[in-house]
Amino acid sequence: MVAIPTETVYGLAADASNPNAVLKIFELKKRPKNHPLIVHIANADQIKYWAAHIPNTAYQLTNIFWPGPLTIVLKKASQIDSTVTGGQDTIALRSPIHPITQKILKKFKGGLAAPSANRFGTISPTTAQHVHTTFGDKLPIVDGGACSVGIESTIIDLSSNKPQILRPGMITAEQIRTVLKQDIQLVHKASASRTPGMLASHYAPKTPTILVTSEKLLDIIRHKTCVVFAQQPQPKNTDHCHWIQMPEHATAYAQTLYHQMHAADALRYDYIIIEDVPNSPDWTAIHDRLQKAAHTIL
Ligand code: TXA
Ligand code: MG
Repeated sequence: MVAIPTETVYGLAADASNPNAVLKIFELKKRPKNHPLIVHIANADQIKYWAAHIPNTAYQLTNIFWPGPLTIVLKKASQIDSTVTGGQDTIALRSPIHPITQKILKKFKGGLAAPSANRFGTISPTTAQHVHTTFGDKLPIVDGGACSVGIESTIIDLSSNKPQILRPGMITAEQIRTVLKQDIQLVHKASASRTPGMLASHYAPKTPTILVTSEKLLDIIRHKTCVVFAQQPQPKNTDHCHWIQMPEHATAYAQTLYHQMHAADALRYDYIIIEDVPNSPDWTAIHDRLQKAAHTIL
């Protein structure tokens, strides 16, 4: 096992075709064995080794978005061991664009199973330091700097006739619709074993975290010792709060979000209070992660 950088978050990687190596990932992450892993590959030419019954839509999407933060779910090829797929007959594939990991994948030629390099249910790591804080010296870490996208890839299920987004990411449903020229549904309630990211508070900080509307923000923070994530600047009479002014643009916000959550957690305030983000399509994935991070939504 080696922690590798990707453009989204750091991954905990091992040879995807070696069931013993894959089992070690589940153990170290404390992840239930029925929660499938994403297999990372160098490029779209390798899809046919891992998957069967590959629809045209797979190549339409990978032509545009690979390498990059898009994961496609396809029927798995029959020879693929189902340890990596959590016992399912489908497989998730992604070709990351991070230059170091691209190099590793090209040299290795195989697939790397890599979930985010955090313990199950905690915030994903976006720096080598985050990975080290969780797993210590025993895990080798390839330091590729801070992740440029900052939240996990978009996952689209292409294994049935109706493409569905299982996890929103910075490649939006709208961008995918434009390429496929068809309507794409966003699954809100996938069964827990298909997309553990859908479990409530799956990406949660340790500090109790509250997601609030802009209107309620000042009222909620009044009597609380808290870290505040807000797009508005710090108002007067809020000196009891540690105010973090978050970026105005979605790409910059996503890039810094987990980094700020890790930092806020380390400050050990009573609460992390997050002002909700705009309701437009480019914010969908961020909104999703904020809802999962929050223990309470007001
Ligand atoms: O950006 C990312 O995707 C990062 C980096 C490291 O590539 N990886 C990542 O992995 O987020 P992980 O394990 O934390 O999340 C993988 C998600 C899970 O929600 C899992 O259920 C889903 O992918 N998944 C994997 N295989 C699947 C399958 N066959 N069908 C449906 N969902 C699947
Ligand atoms: Mg994860």
